[in-house]
Amino acid sequence: MNVFILPFVSVVLLCSVLATDAAIRNYKFVLEDTVYTKLCSNSTILTINGQSPGPTIVARKGDLVNVDLVNNASHHVTIHWHGVKMPRYPWWDGPEFVTQCPIKPGQRFKYSIVLSDEEGTLWWHAHNDWSRATVYGALVILPEKGDNYPFPTPAAEFPLLIGEWWKADIQEVMEEFLKSGGDPNNSDAFLLNGQPGDLYPCSKQDTFKVTVEFGKTYLFRLVNSIMNNIMFFKIANHNITVVGSDASYTKHLDSDYITISPGQTIDFLLHANQTPSHYYMAARVYASSGIFDTGITTGIIEYAGNYTPPTNLTVPDFPDFNDTHASVNFTNQLKSLADKKHPVDVPQTVDKTLFFTVSVNLRNCSSNTSCEGPGGGRLLASVNNITLLLPNTSILEAYYNNIPGVYTPDFPESPLYQFNYTGPITPNLQDPENGTRVLVLEHNTNVELVFQATNIVGGIDHPMHLHGHSFYVVGSDLGNFDQNVHPQNYNLKDPPLMETIAVPRNGWTAIRFKANNPGVWFMHCHFERHVSWGMGMTFIIKNGKGRNAQMAPPPPDMPKCT
Ligand code: C2O
Ligand code: CU
Repeated sequence: MNVFILPFVSVVLLCSVLATDAAIRNYKFVLEDTVYTKLCSNSTILTINGQSPGPTIVARKGDLVNVDLVNNASHHVTIHWHGVKMPRYPWWDGPEFVTQCPIKPGQRFKYSIVLSDEEGTLWWHAHNDWSRATVYGALVILPEKGDNYPFPTPAAEFPLLIGEWWKADIQEVMEEFLKSGGDPNNSDAFLLNGQPGDLYPCSKQDTFKVTVEFGKTYLFRLVNSIMNNIMFFKIANHNITVVGSDASYTKHLDSDYITISPGQTIDFLLHANQTPSHYYMAARVYASSGIFDTGITTGIIEYAGNYTPPTNLTVPDFPDFNDTHASVNFTNQLKSLADKKHPVDVPQTVDKTLFFTVSVNLRNCSSNTSCEGPGGGRLLASVNNITLLLPNTSILEAYYNNIPGVYTPDFPESPLYQFNYTGPITPNLQDPENGTRVLVLEHNTNVELVFQATNIVGGIDHPMHLHGHSFYVVGSDLGNFDQNVHPQNYNLKDPPLMETIAVPRNGWTAIRFKANNPGVWFMHCHFERHVSWGMGMTFIIKNGKGRNAQMAPPPPDMPKCT
């Protein structure tokens, strides 16, 4: 880990963002082209400090973490601190062409991760092109000094990142499917902490292993860092206890499997209470439709002690690949801890109601090109039927400096055409509009946002992610949302506080949040192919009254857009 001593953020800046007893931590990230051998072949990938997954950042609640990023690679990059609200500092949030322009080869940029109320597990990842396939790592946020977890102190704790490996160059994978109009190629393996595990070739030596002692309890910080799939995770013979998600504590939930969306984190306790032996921990796809990959990545829990380890470990018995009930049921059981020390602050009244359809779309190909989407069409995706076209400059910079012509402030608050969203789809509903539209909100607006997944191109789940805020998930169900019926059953008592939530296939999910973070914040599906197809939009939250409600000025080293 590269920790250096001299803080580079000016004293003035620090006073404005740092709580009194919080610390400043410094990391150095060097983006490099690194040759890795996996699955019996060599690939050159983008890494941070030669590692993929990259370094784990460890901080305490409320700390300020400086990350000095140096680009020594052949490709440009931006980094996003997934789930960190970055109050007043969208400049360091990371999404390319939303809050910044790329850090080009040979350039550097000093990010600061502005932690506030987050506590638990988050992660960081590249936020340009498909670079996050290999450029990602864990962000562990411990309780404040002198404070404890709201559960017995574990004997040890481990980040556990589910990743993905392509033998091919990831940039080429991306360019190829965007050109063809079809689906991207599947990866060649799923990974646990960078290792495919026993069920893939050439992996035995490097399989991720954890040693446990019988009778003790361990904390695992599970992150779904893969590109295009919701995953089921399971440990053979063991139940686990979920204690947190998305850097917020949850009521304890005992389960024998986990469903985790790309972007989401789940903190769980493992009680080492089975016959001492070796057991697989494993992850594989949940897929309601779309990309399908039967691979299983495995790691091993090894009990300490004298016994003959089994020669063949049993692969855990997963829910079926398309078991929507198992997927949705796990997620719906997550509830905020909601105790005295961790109160729930869900808006009880709403100032602004938003209704967003989320769709995969299909557009006819121009006559002289043939596309590889269904029926020879081109696959796209949209929010409220708008396919996002990112500008080649930063929306944040355009907003801050009043640069015209970059975006239009007219993102629709509800769909322009209403239809039976989850019913049969006629071809005229398939083709979206292109746009770079933003939705402007007054500071401190209490927002209710209902995501409605549609059946266009057959429908699929969408793990929706909001930057700059956490949100409470107050309701979700299959079918069409009904404003006259469903709000009566919202959970306004102990809804889970998340940054990413999977909207079920042909279903809806309602979230509430206070738009209290002035700036420019991206909202998008965390399936990488969907956001590449345009499933994203941007919120602009205006400055409020008082100094703490004003967006900070840009840092002096913002990468140039031209
Ligand atoms: Cu983890 Cu905008 O993403
Ligand atoms: Cu999606």
